[in-house]
Order: sequence, then structure tokens, then C-alpha cells
Amino acid sequence: MRAIALTVLFIAAADAAVAQQDAAELRERGKALLAEKCSRCHQIGTTGASPLAQAPPFRTIMQRYGPQSLEEALAEGLSSGHEAMPEFVFEPHDIAAIVSYLATLRGGR
Ligand code: HEC
Repeated sequence: MRAIALTVLFIAAADAAVAQQDAAELRERGKALLAEKCSRCHQIGTTGASPLAQAPPFRTIMQRYGPQSLEEALAEGLSSGHEAMPEFVFEPHDIAAIVSYLATLRGGR
């Protein structure tokens, strides 16, 4: 009986570890995507100014909108209505990665 309980516990712990690792990987991927596509204009980190002065740092955008509304914007095709910014459209999988990274900028996870 005890062995079974321990096994169940162990499996649950392993699952949690995997989920945590997946989440970390997702965030890293999101960060890499933003670094590739957005960072020449926007600051994507937690400190510092944007390379392009008119482009708000993502942490500022996050305070303004939150990851949820940005998620919708990313899915529908992001255009700021600003000529300096090209339009972007992301796959759902990429959006999940991006949003999970952006959430870290608000001190969340
Ligand atoms: C070529 C430069 C450039 C690139 C690349 C760029 N942006 Fe922007 N972005 C801007 C500028 C400039 C603004 C400010 C627009 C304004 O004030 O109207 C902006 C504004 C935004 C806003 C805020 C819109 C608002 O209503 O306040 C979001 C969200 C945003 N960008 C997301 C992104 C994302 C996500 C990427 C990468 C996929 C990206 N941007 C890539 C230049 C850029």
C-alpha cells in the first residue's frame, strides 16, 4: 500500500517538474520570438529604454493592456495603427509562448 502511495506521489512530482520545465521553455521561446521580431524597436526586458524611442518598452505596454488583450491582438494580427510598426501575425503556439514570456514582465509567472 505504502509503495503504491509513494509511486503516485513520485509520478505527481515528476509531472509537476515536467510542467515547470515546459513553462520555462515556453517563456524562453516567447522571449526569443520577441527578440527576433520586436526587439529592434521595443525594449523587451525588464529595464532599459527601447532602441526606437517612439516604441514603448513591452513592460510599459503590459502595464497598459495586460497579457490577455495582447494575446487577442497577436492572434488577430497586430498592427499598432502606426506606420513605423509592421503588421505581425502569429501562430497560436507562438502566441502562447509570447504571452507566457510577457506575463513575466509584470512580475507574474
Ligand atoms: C519597426 C519598429 C517596430 C517593430 C519591429 C515592432 N514595433 Fe511595436 N511599435 C512600434 C512603434 C513606433 C510603436 C508606437 C506606436 C504608437 O505610439 O502609436 C509600437 C507600439 C506597439 C504596441 C502598442 C500599441 C498601442 O496601442 O499602444 C504594441 C502592443 C506593439 N508595438 C507590439 C509589438 C510586437 C509584439 C512586436 C513584435 C512582434 C512589435 N511591436 C514590433 C514599432 C515597432
